[in-house]
Amino acid sequence: MESKFIKYVGTDDLRDFLFENQWTLPEGVAYNSYVVADEKTALIDTAAAAFGDKFIAEVKRATGGKPVDYLIINHMEPDHSALIALARKNWPDMTIVTNAKAVPMVAGYHGITDNILIVNENDTLDLGHCSLVFKMTPMVHWPETMMTYLPEEETLFSGDAFGCFGALKGRGEDHFEEFRDEMVRYYASIVGKYGQTVQAAMKKLAGVPVSRICSTHGPVWEKDIPKVLDIYDRMSRYQTAKGVCIVYGSMYGNTAEAAKAIYEECKARGIKCAIHDAVTENPSFIYKDIFEYDTLVCGAPTYNNEIFPAVAHILKGVAARMIKNHKFAAFGSYTWVGGSVKLMNLMAESAGLQVLGEGMPFKQAFSQAKPDIKAFVDILEA
Ligand code: FEO
Repeated sequence: MESKFIKYVGTDDLRDFLFENQWTLPEGVAYNSYVVADEKTALIDTAAAAFGDKFIAEVKRATGGKPVDYLIINHMEPDHSALIALARKNWPDMTIVTNAKAVPMVAGYHGITDNILIVNENDTLDLGHCSLVFKMTPMVHWPETMMTYLPEEETLFSGDAFGCFGALKGRGEDHFEEFRDEMVRYYASIVGKYGQTVQAAMKKLAGVPVSRICSTHGPVWEKDIPKVLDIYDRMSRYQTAKGVCIVYGSMYGNTAEAAKAIYEECKARGIKCAIHDAVTENPSFIYKDIFEYDTLVCGAPTYNNEIFPAVAHILKGVAARMIKNHKFAAFGSYTWVGGSVKLMNLMAESAGLQVLGEGMPFKQAFSQAKPDIKAFVDILEA
């Protein structure tokens, strides 16, 4: 990033852990934060708790040892905000700048109640030769989320919006193709429920000239801004490509055999198709492909007269994310009394998905029951 005022002070997290204690990170993640160095110095967001010493050292290097005058808090989720108290300890006169909804969170997480400047929509903070303008973007994806705009460099510090999983590993700007799938997985897992508020934020920002997006995760976006905006726009409108995402759980392999047979039949017909085992795969990869394709197919055996739990969990996640514009079909084996297929259809219907037919329950072994896979895929294609 070539900037007169902005210096990157973020950090890569390559630990083997679950983000939000839920989502795997095979490529790691970056916590991005920035120093805006002018007559006054502003720090935009912090990082996760494990990186305190590194973070403070980076900020001191970027400021040349000058104290930080302002800490801008765009978002209070602790992956970015865990070091607020440490920052205040290092720079005791530093003013925290945030919106009213974040103030009780700063107190609740850090016990800090003093020297806080509350900002509202379009308030401006003058730093000398440049300034920061604040844009409220509630529920992208927490109530207190806001963005900070630096008009002199047309730079938007966007919080989680336009972010993605994946550590930077020295890749500073753009790299859209390398990060594209991790952006979809990030959006689907974490921001997916908030399509309406993402759309509201995008409309609000539509007239603002933006030449650089500094998100809290992933690369700084400059030349790839149109691609990044397009993907967030499409996902927040629940736009999909034509294709099938098969999600299954299986106890003794029969529902799995049906899933694989459906997958092979789809492939043979040239239908774009993904397949996921809900028992062994992290749900983030499953939500990613559910957001990608217009048809969701779920397979689960009947277990305790219910849907096999791993698949029920995914369907609950689909409902929570208010996923729209999807078709749905179900299948699954049972031994004495069925029920999972009907129950999956009911869950899908109440989540607003378009249920295609009654589905394909089958009794006991896949090899003996020989369910009609071609007929099932005919319904998906119709
Ligand atoms: Fe990256 Fe919602 O925190």
